[in-house]
Amino acid sequence: MAPTGTLIWIFSLAAVCVSEPSDDTFKNCTSQAPLFERLSADVKEAAESSGNLPSEWSSQQSAALIGSMRHLTDLLHKHQLKDCQLAEPKECPEAQVPENGGLVCVTVENTRYCKPLCNHGYDFGFLRRSRLFDSCGPKTRFRWDTQYVGGNRLAVCNAAMIQISGNQTAYFPKDQDCLKTKSQLQDSLIQSTVAELKAKNIEGEPQNACLVCG
Ligand SMILES: *[C@@H]1O[C@H](CO)[C@@H](O)[C@H](O)[C@H]1NC(C)=O
Ligand SMILES: *[C@@H]1O[C@H](CO)[C@@H](O)[C@H](O)[C@H]1NC(C)=O
Repeated sequence: MAPTGTLIWIFSLAAVCVSEPSDDTFKNCTSQAPLFERLSADVKEAAESSGNLPSEWSSQQSAALIGSMRHLTDLLHKHQLKDCQLAEPKECPEAQVPENGGLVCVTVENTRYCKPLCNHGYDFGFLRRSRLFDSCGPKTRFRWDTQYVGGNRLAVCNAAMIQISGNQTAYFPKDQDCLKTKSQLQDSLIQSTVAELKAKNIEGEPQNACLVCG
């Protein structure tokens, strides 16, 4: 829509909102839509403009927007990390989430199991083909039994042409990186991960299951 068209459209909506302030009408005013819906729609539209940002946007405006977007990205990133926080057992420190990948975690019988995954184009720093999970519980004295000595880092995903260090199931598919998977396929990934634990004879009621992206 042309800018003038958009303005007229916004004004006409505003007019409707002001002249008929019934509950129903208010809900339909764009300005009254929840922030998340407004933001998602606007960001999606701008992002899908495929390189043709409106010519009236100045480079200073773009710079300012980049600053706000970076800050917002940071806040959103921290917000999605919350899904894996405060899990049982409380004695276990929070596992670090690998950048360019993610972690699927689940607690079974007071032990926390986390499976690191790398995005397409990234590979694990250490060989871990038969090592799907790292764990933390009474048997590990509530420390992570990681390949990285003495810390909460479970895996590192390094840029790589081929992916050979991890198990086949430890990589997100090409067009489904961690964020895309989390937004669309979280439940099925968690289910298949719980099935992998069961296959290792770790059975019991799965609790605090989550997927977070680094
Ligand atoms: C407002 O939206 C609701 C559904 O969200 C719809 O049923 C209703 O007809 C709309 N009202 C107006 C005035 O457009
Ligand atoms: C991947 O993990 C499964 C389950 O632990 C195992 O059976 C399989 O051999 C592993 N694949 C490779 C390539 O090591």
